[in-house]
Order: sequence, then C-alpha cells, then structure tokens
Amino acid sequence: MIVAGLSAESSDNFHTSQSGYLLQSQPALPRIAMNNHPKTAFVTGASSGFGRAIAQRLLNEGWRLIISARRRERLEALAAAFPERCHVACFDIRDSAAIDSALAELPENFANIDLLVNNAGLALGTATAPQADLVQWRQMIDTNITGLITLTHALLPRLVTSRGLIINISSTAARYPYPGGNVYGGSKAFVSQFSLGLRSDLHGTGVRVTSIEPGMAETEFTLVRTGGNQAASDALYAGVTPIRAEDIAEQVAWIANLPAHLNINRIETMPVNQSLAGFQVHRE
Ligand SMILES: NC(=O)c1ccc[n+]([C@@H]2O[C@H](COP(=O)([O-])OP(=O)(O)OC[C@H]3O[C@@H](n4cnc5c(N)ncnc54)[C@H](OP(=O)(O)O)[C@@H]3O)[C@@H](O)[C@H]2O)c1
Repeated sequence: MIVAGLSAESSDNFHTSQSGYLLQSQPALPRIAMNNHPKTAFVTGASSGFGRAIAQRLLNEGWRLIISARRRERLEALAAAFPERCHVACFDIRDSAAIDSALAELPENFANIDLLVNNAGLALGTATAPQADLVQWRQMIDTNITGLITLTHALLPRLVTSRGLIINISSTAARYPYPGGNVYGGSKAFVSQFSLGLRSDLHGTGVRVTSIEPGMAETEFTLVRTGGNQAASDALYAGVTPIRAEDIAEQVAWIANLPAHLNINRIETMPVNQSLAGFQVHRE
C-alpha cells in the first residue's frame, strides 16, 4: 500500500487493520519483560553492517541493548545516544576468556537476556580451495562457528529463564555453493543447521530460534573479505541494488516482536538483482 506524504520514519507508527485501512498507533513502546524492565538484546558484530543496523533498530524500539565487537570506538559512538539502555561489551568473539569476562562484568540490569543476535562473522578471501590461505580458513571457523557457539552456550541458561529468542545470521552461502565460497559457506551451513539443532534441543523451553539467510548485501563484508580493497567492493555492488543492513534489521525486529507462540525457522532473502544459475560443467 502506498500512502502519499508518509515518511519512512512516520510509517513506523502506522499499521494496517484487518480490513486494510491504515491506522495510526502509538509510537513504539519499550518491550517489557516479565521483570517489568525493557527487554534486553545481545547483538554481536554491532560495530558495522547488519549488527549496527539491528542494534540501532532495537534501541529505537525501546529495547535495552548489549552491543559487542572488537572496535570499541564504534560501539561507544552507537551507545552514546542511549547511555541508560546500551552497554558496550567489547571483545574478540574468538577469545572465550574475554567472553567470560564480558559476561561477568554485565551490569545487573543487563543480566537477563531475552534476545541473542549472533551476527558477528566474516568471509576472508575469494580463492578456490587449492590456493586458499589456511590461516583465513581457521579464522572464519574460529569466528563464525566457535565464537558463535561459545557465546550461545554461555547465554543459554539466561535465554531459557527468559523464554527468549536466538537469531543466528547465516547466509545463502549455507545452501548454495560458489567457487571461492568453500569454508565461508561451510561455516554458514553450520550456523543454519546448528539453528535447527538448537530448536530441537530447546523443545519445551519456550525458547525460539531463527536462522536468517541473506544473499548479497552491501556492508563492510566485501571490504573485509578482500583485505580492504574498496575498488573490489565497489565493483561487486556496481549496478546492483543489494540488500541493505536496514532490511535485515527489519527482519530481526519483525521476528523479535512476534507473539511468543510463533517460531520462524529460517528466512532466505536475496536482492532482486541476484538469482541462482545452474551447475558448472568442465569439459576435457
Ligand atoms: N554482507 C553480506 O553480503 C552478507 C550476506 C549474508 C550473511 N552475512 C553475514 O552477516 C553477518 C554480518 O556481516 P556484515 O555483512 O554486516 O559485515 P560487516 O559490516 O563486516 O560486519 C561484521 C561484524 O562482525 C564483527 N566481527 C568480525 N570478526 C569479529 C571478531 N573476531 N570478534 C568480534 N566481532 C567480530 C565486526 O566487528 P569488529 O570488526 O569491530 O570486531 C563487525 O561488527 C556476518 O555473519 C556475515 O557472514 C553477510
């Protein structure tokens, strides 16, 4: 539905009635947990891209936020506008001792976690397997898999107590291989399958688990993957309207605000400019 004169900001305060009319509702109110505080979300990789947009969106909606990544200045810049509701937990997700310390240092009013968004992750390199760098392969596994499961394991008791929600950021690379995707795709396949496994294990606890699987999105992802090659990043997105970080934040906000009896297992999204194209055949 298109409504003339309705800005992106003001459209947040409207919803469509069952009969299709656009109704004005109250501005977003803080989500309230059972302890009568705003609900608390832990978002990893909040210094950039999806994570920053997700954190910003949830803060705007009234959530209490714990934001983590390695680049402290960026986290502090995001937290500055919400000093009461945003706690910076700066750590490298590959460092399990740093995760333990960060959790031990959480202020009391940030200790109950209702939502964990496992977003921190990266792809490194585009070489096919014979030319790939083993150090980069290990870093992807340490970050995308080991870091993710370590933090999840540490927070599971709190998520069970809160009957919370886990949203894991996977990728279309989890299901659709491409040359040079090797370990990155493998790590994301783990994330998608781990999400389903968690759902099975958490059966009966009320905890919900979703895997979000985006296709091509413009963030710092390609800059990181190519070791800071801005020209390569620009070339990849040239002439394309990729997914924006705010699009994924919208999905997270939607899932997080669903009634507690609904679980979205997975969401796969691509930009219209991207699609799938068959198998490759090598001929002698
Ligand atoms: N962009 C895409 O096309 C796309 C598509 C599908 C899925 N994804 C996935 O989406 C997630 C977010 O990526 P993005 O596209 O938003 O890329 P991005 O802009 O590069 O953001 C990646 C985030 O992960 C954090 N991170 C990386 N390594 C870390 C570590 N060792 N410890 C703690 N934090 C770490 C980074 O923070 P610091 O560098 O400050 O630590 C940054 O905040 C990733 O899991 C990625 O695989 C991306």
